[in-house]
Amino acid sequence: GDLAIGVDIGGTKVAAGIVDEQGAVVARARADTPDRSVRPKVVEDTIVGVVNELLQQAPGRIAAVGIGAAGFVAADRATIVFAPHLSWRQEPLRDRLSALIEPPIFIDNDANAAIWAEGKFGAARGETSAMMITLGTGIGGGILMNGEVIRGRFGIAGEFGHMQVVPAGHRCECGNRGCWEQYASGNALVREARSLVAANSPLARDLYERVQGDASQLTGPLVTEVAKAGDRTAIELLAEVGDWLGVGLANLAAAFDPGAFVIGGGVSAAGDLLIEPARAAFRRQLTGRGFRPEARIVRAELGNEAGMIGAADLARASVLGG
Ligand code: BGC
Ligand code: NA
Ligand code: ZN
Repeated sequence: GDLAIGVDIGGTKVAAGIVDEQGAVVARARADTPDRSVRPKVVEDTIVGVVNELLQQAPGRIAAVGIGAAGFVAADRATIVFAPHLSWRQEPLRDRLSALIEPPIFIDNDANAAIWAEGKFGAARGETSAMMITLGTGIGGGILMNGEVIRGRFGIAGEFGHMQVVPAGHRCECGNRGCWEQYASGNALVREARSLVAANSPLARDLYERVQGDASQLTGPLVTEVAKAGDRTAIELLAEVGDWLGVGLANLAAAFDPGAFVIGGGVSAAGDLLIEPARAAFRRQLTGRGFRPEARIVRAELGNEAGMIGAADLARASVLGG
């Protein structure tokens, strides 16, 4: 086979695609991520379902299947140690899937896969040191240094979403309080929008009308849509997320000094409504600002498909090289 399948498993969607060696997605399949309360097997059956759907479309041509999973992947790249938004705890994912899927399986963290794709085919092309921040259900982090994905001694490097940015702040699904992803993710955006609507604030009138007063109907994409239509409150909500994003990026720049930060995940669809406030906060917060070179902050070029494309390409490279 000359093609690979990539599967991105996020907190809400399982997105799969057949990817060629230029990083182009030539076929797609999708399913909802089963709720965290279900047994891991249900999630695995969902993955097998989308993979089989794609295998049928390119019989004999798939060299490998790459999985980008929203969780802590062990150094053996076979086990998901923990996942705040999914039901996996010490889950032997590779073996489970290998028993049900014909081509070889390769597992990585979703944001690790995404930075690989953006570095090779996307916004960080030509950049040897870059970092990925995906804003979805949580915050994903990927580290590319000197052309290589850095995974750490135990496989779990890059869990930036769980760095504490607010002491005694919002409770996180990981168990801690004040994690960065409680302030700069899709979930954070939705939580703030819902609380405004639930408070029946006059500022939230546009949002309120869009969901007929039912705060639970608010989603990240809806807030973005309303913001793009010019609603000041929705614009402010995105700017707040952007602000927190920029503060976290300044911390990461202090630690890693990359050439670029690539911002992906669902919330990045907001474009400059998110990225401009992030750049402003970054410039305010960066240590040594004014005296040092500054990393670029750019939107993911591969959009929401970076994780899928990266997972496929890493799997392909493992089997075929390159
Ligand atoms: C998880 C990460 C994941 C990220 C984005 C975080 O909460 O801890 O492993 O990469 O969400 O999906
Ligand atoms: Na990561
Ligand atoms: Zn956390």
